[in-house]
Amino acid sequence: TRPLLIAPSILASDFSRLGEELRAIDAAGADYIHLDIMDGRFVPNISFGPDIVKALRPHSKKVFDTHLMITPCDPYLEAFAKAGSDIITVHVESGPHVHRSLQAIRALGKKAGVTLNPGTPVSTIENVIDLVDLILVMSVNPGFGGQKFITSQLDKIAQVAALANGRPIDIEVDGGVTAENAHQVARAGANVLVAGSAVFKGGTEAAYRANIAAIRNA
Ligand code: DX5
Ligand code: ZN
Repeated sequence: TRPLLIAPSILASDFSRLGEELRAIDAAGADYIHLDIMDGRFVPNISFGPDIVKALRPHSKKVFDTHLMITPCDPYLEAFAKAGSDIITVHVESGPHVHRSLQAIRALGKKAGVTLNPGTPVSTIENVIDLVDLILVMSVNPGFGGQKFITSQLDKIAQVAALANGRPIDIEVDGGVTAENAHQVARAGANVLVAGSAVFKGGTEAAYRANIAAIRNA
């Protein structure tokens, strides 16, 4: 079985000290750095854009896992690639053509990810499976950190794992992941756990280290 990777979402960090916060989670044992990009249109919240990603890039060598909650996404793929993203993930509904968006991410030399909202069925990605390096199962409706894990998504994680069946595809879960439910999420078939509030609670590097370890060892 694949090692479990922890991807802290800096959405839950102190935005007035982003560089410091990134260095702290890097030192505290983050595997991927999860960057939540929100446009106020695809989701009912606005976060930050490619210039912030670019400004953060020199502060960590870890994988920049960029989760685009924006529509349309295609006009911004190159900007996020140039800003230093390693993985760029779009939603099935980012539109208008998810297959084209995934092709474009690969053409930029980046790993391509596709996301399923809680209400989006696994069948929507069957025809793009050969174009993806990562499948992200949302376990909350996207837009905000600190929401409650939607347990019906555990079955979807298992369906995604069956679809990926032996391919080298990361199966990532995002939203409401805690040390309490991490075991179920991993057992269902996920190998990358995103966590925002569960990692950043406590506000210090020592707390982040303990929080990451608690999720990893759950
Ligand atoms: C939600 C984001 C998540 C979120 C995770 O739109 O995609 O990455 O910040 O935060 P928690 O772990 O607090 O649910
Ligand atoms: Zn996310």
